[in-house]
Amino acid sequence: MLVVSVGGSPSARSRSAVVLERARQLLQARGVEVVSYQVREFPAEDLLHARFDSPQVIAFLQMVEQADGLIVATPVYKASFSGALKTLLDLLPERALSHKVVLPIATGGSIAHMLAVDYALKPVLAALKAQEMLQGIFAEDNQITYAEGSTPASLAPVLEQRLEGALEEFHQALARRPRPLAPGQLSRSLIEARWSI
Ligand SMILES: Cc1cc2nc3c(=O)[nH]c(=O)nc-3n(C[C@H](O)[C@H](O)[C@H](O)COP(=O)(O)O)c2cc1C
Repeated sequence: MLVVSVGGSPSARSRSAVVLERARQLLQARGVEVVSYQVREFPAEDLLHARFDSPQVIAFLQMVEQADGLIVATPVYKASFSGALKTLLDLLPERALSHKVVLPIATGGSIAHMLAVDYALKPVLAALKAQEMLQGIFAEDNQITYAEGSTPASLAPVLEQRLEGALEEFHQALARRPRPLAPGQLSRSLIEARWSI
């Protein structure tokens, strides 16, 4: 199984990235391959000028195409998801997420905006035709502690538990996901089985 993770924070020191990294560790422990991206690592000019032919963007699209699932994490900015993340999502083709399972994650300073994932991020992921969108996770800033010295970053136990539960669901959804047939696969299988239609 291949999962692409996308961090949507413009900040180098990022709480949503801490949650995303923990999700990566937990998925890898289950044998899932995770390829990680951060929106701030793409050339800003390519994103701001919507350069669909940007080599970094094309490489990202190719990886998304191969992926079984996506995890998208974003900070809440002005009661929505980050504008930086939107500039990247805008470069995905319309059906980029069809046949894929998607787990959205958001971190915010206030629980008042915990629904930002539902009313802001999910509609965009749905527009990209995500096949199955899981409920998603909202984490408050005070539930995430940055690494310091030799102490690794950590999540509050309640958040760690929610994340583990969501990843369990994600993993199950990935396992039952119907895989699209490669072009020509159906006719090859029929010929090999000596069937005709
Ligand atoms: C420009 C800006 C706007 C923000 N707007 C909100 C907001 O509307 N609601 C909220 O709960 N937190 C808001 N926050 C707080 C961030 O969502 C929160 O600190 C988040 O965990 C940051 O994630 P990051 O460290 O991955 O960038 C805002 C922070 C910034 C810098």
